[in-house]
Amino acid sequence: MKTKQQRIENEQKGIMDSITRRDFLKVSGAVTLVALGGGQLLNIPEVVAARPGPTTRNSLYIPPIVSPSGLTLTEAPATVNVGGGTMASVWAYNNSLPGPTIIASQGSTASINLVNGLSQETITHWHGMIVDGLNDGHPKYAIPPGGTKNYNFAINQRAALNWYHPHTHMLTNEQVAMGLAGAFIVTDNEESALGLPSGNYQVPLVVRDASFDAAYNMVYRSGGGDTPMVNGTLNPYLEVDTARYRFRVLSGAQNRIFGLALSNGAPFTLIGNDGGLLETSVPGLTQIDLAPAERADIIIDFRGLPVGSSIMLKDLRTGWDLLEFRVTRTVTDTGTTPTALSTITKLSNPVRTRVFNFEGMSRINGQVYDINRIDFQVPFGETELWRFTTKGAAPHPVHIHGASFQIQSRTGGRGQLFPWEQGWKDTVLLDDGETVEILIRFDQFRSVGGDGKGLYLIHCHRLEHEDNGMISNFEVV
Ligand code: C2O
Ligand code: CU
Ligand code: CU
Repeated sequence: MKTKQQRIENEQKGIMDSITRRDFLKVSGAVTLVALGGGQLLNIPEVVAARPGPTTRNSLYIPPIVSPSGLTLTEAPATVNVGGGTMASVWAYNNSLPGPTIIASQGSTASINLVNGLSQETITHWHGMIVDGLNDGHPKYAIPPGGTKNYNFAINQRAALNWYHPHTHMLTNEQVAMGLAGAFIVTDNEESALGLPSGNYQVPLVVRDASFDAAYNMVYRSGGGDTPMVNGTLNPYLEVDTARYRFRVLSGAQNRIFGLALSNGAPFTLIGNDGGLLETSVPGLTQIDLAPAERADIIIDFRGLPVGSSIMLKDLRTGWDLLEFRVTRTVTDTGTTPTALSTITKLSNPVRTRVFNFEGMSRINGQVYDINRIDFQVPFGETELWRFTTKGAAPHPVHIHGASFQIQSRTGGRGQLFPWEQGWKDTVLLDDGETVEILIRFDQFRSVGGDGKGLYLIHCHRLEHEDNGMISNFEVV
């Protein structure tokens, strides 16, 4: 006897040959809802592989670039083109999925007015930006529907790809999954002196998974999506020249880890990560694992490829095709990517050790989050060793607000550090059985007389875990 799902799939079989994968995804959405009740994941890539058809690819969306000076950001429902004219209802910043790319130079100032156009409370956090606790988007500062919040902060940190997204108590997962996220790029003189690919040759790539219903409404599933998107585009392609490109890759996934690689196995060069440039570039990489909230700054060299050729950026973990590069124009690029990129002063000699055990899906050191409880205090300006361990339900991408850190070691589990874990980080992947040690020092902001400027968070960036309570308040004093 056939299962209900097999019957549905067989009924669809007849129409599958004549429709595009885009259309197929619409059908799949219906299958998922009918057969699985919406709560579970249907492995769509496997189903697609079983019944291949033509895939219509869509031009990659590049969000508008904005300055954070005098910026108004509105979080609201929006209808956006997710590729090829397919209009999807989502939640977006300023009607853009992902939100506008904020670009600011070191030394400038951000003055941002957040407007809540949702029907639930929200607050926006600037992930990776080192700002005081009043401007950090702590969930206690959430604003109601129709409310506004003003942020004012100095941009006083090295060049990096950071990002912004809601950080609302128990609603972060839903709000991010529905589309609320954008890139926040900081530039500085050290970086611009390197002559890295720029202009059209520098492209932000916000990689995520998403779910849609049959009518192309973006839907929220706590465990993550079943459909890949890059810059809010389904099945995207990007036309490239025979030149080097700098891709600023950000994982905006809820839970999923991406294994990024090129379909032809070609190596690429890693130049930076969460906290900006590495000390030296790392050529010859063929795969980078990117956990939720991690960033990778990579150079892909399309020189030597004939016009008309195509390479796919893939996720090796699912087999998903993420982004097709179509080589369409011959140009002359005689540049080289420098080996020496930056100077990174190593943190050393920690004055104390703190241990954080990430337990199950909702606890740090036995405690579920209490928005009003401050779990520990950290003295300003002192280097500390923080040790992360897990008792199950990993992977846990551990993220800290208020400072970047340097990863020292990983024992158990994968038992090593990877090239993309050098330099400055703000998120580190803790997988099953692993212990990860970092050095961190908070030397920008602290609370004085209870002003809250040193109030920060440490949490699991698997958004389901974060919302469940795997998050903790601390205060730099
Ligand atoms: Cu990306 Cu506490 O967040
Ligand atoms: Cu953050
Ligand atoms: Cu977790």
